[in-house]
Amino acid sequence: MKYLVTGAAGFIGFHLCQSLLQTGKSVRGIDDINSYYDIKLKKERLKNLNKSKKFKFKKLDISNFNNLKKTFSLFKPDVVIHLAAQAGVRYSIKNPHAYTKSNLVGFANILECSRLLNIKHLIFASSSSVYGNTKNIPFKEDENLNSPISYYAATKLSNEVMAYSYSHLYRIPITGLRFFTVYGPWGRPDMALSIFTEAIKNNKKLKIFNNGNMLRDFTYIDDVINAVKKIINKKPKYIKKNNSSSFRILNIGNNKPIKLNSYVNLIEKQLQKKGNKVPYKMQKGDVKQTYASLKKIKKLIKYSPKTSISIGIRKFVTWHNEYYKK
Ligand SMILES: NC(=O)c1ccc[n+]([C@@H]2O[C@H](COP(=O)([O-])OP(=O)(O)OC[C@H]3O[C@@H](n4cnc5c(N)ncnc54)[C@H](O)[C@@H]3O)[C@@H](O)[C@H]2O)c1
Repeated sequence: MKYLVTGAAGFIGFHLCQSLLQTGKSVRGIDDINSYYDIKLKKERLKNLNKSKKFKFKKLDISNFNNLKKTFSLFKPDVVIHLAAQAGVRYSIKNPHAYTKSNLVGFANILECSRLLNIKHLIFASSSSVYGNTKNIPFKEDENLNSPISYYAATKLSNEVMAYSYSHLYRIPITGLRFFTVYGPWGRPDMALSIFTEAIKNNKKLKIFNNGNMLRDFTYIDDVINAVKKIINKKPKYIKKNNSSSFRILNIGNNKPIKLNSYVNLIEKQLQKKGNKVPYKMQKGDVKQTYASLKKIKKLIKYSPKTSISIGIRKFVTWHNEYYKK
């Protein structure tokens, strides 16, 4: 089996490639290494992946159809795990164009290349943000959703319907994964955990939105990667008789949301230092809470997230101290 991972220089892509390589798989990674956040971190991740002979990397922008098709045709992957995207809710208010380019045009190109190359299983990253401000707790995959409150969420919700149509028309097995705030070592500098850690360490203002009353279902990276690897081998099958579909959506969350305030307390405890907390109003596009139902994924694979939030934060801070000491 050959695996193509898009967004390989990114946080989740890096961990997935590393884990696939550790089990002897051949992996082709692609990424445009854009400067949305520190390129050095992306390059460091790639440097680690390049240590394996089974890893090959191609710098490529997925919004360029011809280049993407060339890479698909040359590598002929069996499985595509599509993680490349313009991430981040707040930045989508500042620069929606980046989301249109990578998440809509890029995504359409991934679908079309998957069709042309008869991909055996396409797995793509959606997001918990597609649930918007739904009142139905915990969030279930079968809820009819049409009210994204950020453009980022709108592109992810669009990906789900675009993928459904390809799966329906061409019977491509496709799984969309709604990730719930993934965190851990090598994490994204634009996410809360990195921002809070940096601010506390450097005695900077720590902006606490909505008085810290938002709830987030934080999911540790190793739990996410273990789940994705199991899902790769469980492609959805179209069986006319059973009316079963070759398309599915799954939550990958933790099912234990915590308040942002408690999250900050845990980071402070780990750093043994108090932050200079300043209250700010709720940010446009942010949802009040995320909370994953895990019923559907548990039915499919043995999934039970193992990493508690305090252990996860400890592992992140240990990595952060080590990485940024250089
Ligand atoms: N980390 C989370 O908590 C989280 C939560 C929900 C969904 N997701 C989704 O999971 C996926 C991976 O997220 P991540 O946290 O690793 O983000 P990331 O930003 O670290 O990784 C995404 C990678 O995609 C690359 N990329 C962006 N546009 C590209 C393009 N046009 N062509 C080629 N490469 C491109 C970026 O350079 C980056 O390295 C994304 O689709 C994201 O939207 C992440």
